[in-house]
Formats: sequence, C-alpha cells, structure tokens
Amino acid sequence: MTVHPTQDAGAAVAALRRGGLVALPTETVYGLAGDARSPEALARIYDVKGRPSTHPVIVHLPDASFLDQWAADVPAWARSLAEALWPGPLTLIVPRADDVLDAVCGGQPTVGLRVPAHPLTLEVLATFGDGLAAPSANRYGHVSPTTAQHVLDELGDLLDDSRDLVLDGGPCPVGVESTIIGAWDDSPRLLRSGLVTVDQVAALTGRPVSLITDDVRTPGSTAAHYSPRARVVPVEAEDLDVVAAELSVPFGLIALDGVDPPSAEHERLASPRDDVDYAHSLYAALRTADDAGLSVVIAVLPPDTGVGHAVRDRLTRAAAREVGL
Ligand code: TXA
Ligand code: MG
Repeated sequence: MTVHPTQDAGAAVAALRRGGLVALPTETVYGLAGDARSPEALARIYDVKGRPSTHPVIVHLPDASFLDQWAADVPAWARSLAEALWPGPLTLIVPRADDVLDAVCGGQPTVGLRVPAHPLTLEVLATFGDGLAAPSANRYGHVSPTTAQHVLDELGDLLDDSRDLVLDGGPCPVGVESTIIGAWDDSPRLLRSGLVTVDQVAALTGRPVSLITDDVRTPGSTAAHYSPRARVVPVEAEDLDVVAAELSVPFGLIALDGVDPPSAEHERLASPRDDVDYAHSLYAALRTADDAGLSVVIAVLPPDTGVGHAVRDRLTRAAAREVGL
C-alpha cells in the first residue's frame, strides 16, 4: 500500500521514533529522513533510495547548538558560517564525533551537517530533539523531488504505509540542493554549489574558497547525477537555434523568459524570470518532460551568477548521465 501525505508534524515525529522513515520538506528539496542514531533506519534509507552504502548522508539538526554533538573539531570560521546562515541551504562537512554511525558517514572521518529552513521540518526536528539523516528523497542518481507529489510518484510504492510518512510542506522554495562546504581545516572548500554562493562564503569567513568539483566522496558531485529519463542538452542562449534545428524530434525547452523560442516544434516546460526562479522550477520541469514522454530537453543555461552557477552545474551533470542510471 502506498503512503499518504500528511501535514501533521506530531505524526511525523511519532513515525521517526518508531524507526520509520519520513519524507519531509526542506527549503531546497524533499529529504527522506530517519533517526540518524538508528542503524536500521539508515539501512532502510539506503535500501529505498537504491544508494551505495559508501555514500554518506547529511544529518539535519534542530539548530546550531547541536553541532558539537555530531562534530569533533569545528573550525571557528565554520562555526560562524553556521551561525550566520542556519537555518538555511548550507551543509558543512566537518570532522565527525566519535559516536556518529559509520553508515551516516559512508565510513569517512567527516560528517555532513545542516539546519534546514522549513517551518514544518524545524518543528519536527525540535520535537524529535536530535539529528535526522536525510538524503534527497529520490532514487539514486535521479532528479531530486521538490513537491510531496514528486516523492509519492518516485518512492510511494517503496515506502511502507504501516510505518512511513510523507510530510507535505508545499513546493520547496529554493529548488536545488544545499551548498556543501568542506570544513575540516583552515580552508573552506566548495563541494557542491547552491543558493549560498562562494562569494557569500568568502565574505562571511574572510577566507578564499577553493573549488573541488569532482570530489569522489561527494556523490552529488560526480559527473552523472540529477538525471531525468529524457536526454538533457544544455546550451548557451546563442547556440539555441543551431542545436534545436539539428534535432529530429519534438523537444522540451527550459529557458529564461527573455530567450526567444526556436522555430522547431517544441514544448516550453518553464520560462523562469531569473536565476532564482530557474532553480525553483528546474526539477519540476524535468519531471514534466518525463511525464509528457519527451525524449529530449534543451535547457538554455542561465548566466553564471548567483544560484545560476548551481543551475548550470546540475544541468551539466544531468546531461552526463550514464545509460540506465
Ligand atoms: O539540500 C540538501 O542538501 C538536501 C536536503 C534534503 O537537505 N539533501 C541532499 O542530500 O541533497 P543528498 O544525500 O542527496 O546529497 C548529500 C551530498 C552527497 O553528495 C553526499 O555525498 C555529501 O552530501 N555528503 C554527505 N556527507 C558527507 C561527508 N561526510 N563527506 C563528503 N560528502 C558528504
Ligand atoms: Mg541527492
């Protein structure tokens, strides 16, 4: 039996305390949450996602005062970053505390921590009173969900309605996953881009941020990820006409509002106003393409500013998918 969505934070906490899984809203994407202290809950998260057990999961905390229960040495610059930006779309990868389960960290010496900015989920976390492991609530390698319906479509049959729940907090405002910053020594490292930009991190920490785009320890940063079934073709605006004319099938198109559509037959999937709106609507647009049975989506890349950097990153990775992923 498939699970039903609810808006009842108390029911979500009860399910988590019984060892169940709860798909819950965050400001970025929906996460598939379980008690981060429970090996059984973690095993089920990996199972439902179809995710390799060597890939670590992010632990979601009620507030920044929980940092030291999960981390060993938090660099001072990272602590002030957390205090400035939490709750918010920032994950810190810090040295783990001794009692953090291996299954959380994928066997690594670090743990990923964040405080999500969503009222319903903050209520769940405050009542639960400890960390919740929550990777994005999608099958491994696929597009992250930004509505409760996306979660139901993708995981509904894999969840167990006698113990799991989907908490419906409406569409996620940000729409792409949190910025991940490596924080294990003196230098901030960007491991995944998001709404929080490198410039913001540099300004808040007073330190230069190095870019690591292909850290194998951060699976979301491997080349093939975030992929719909449709083939994604990212293009710069000036190349749109040429690329569109070469396609022999009707295609889906995602492009900023001001971009002139090509003459070839296509379905406009989204016309975001700006980079923030592009991030917000991207994953829903990719899912719409699959629902419509389109085999190709042309995505006109937004300028590389603000969260446009993260949109470009996700589109490039979506395009690099491996067959069958
Ligand atoms: O916005 C988000 O971060 C969402 C919401 C639900 O919070 N979560 C999310 O989780 O995107 P997930 O598991 O799909 O992606 C987390 C990324 C993965 O690439 C993972 O490898 C990396 O964070 N990560 C987590 N812990 C890590 C660690 N200890 N070392 C290196 N990378 C880590
Ligand atoms: Mg993910």
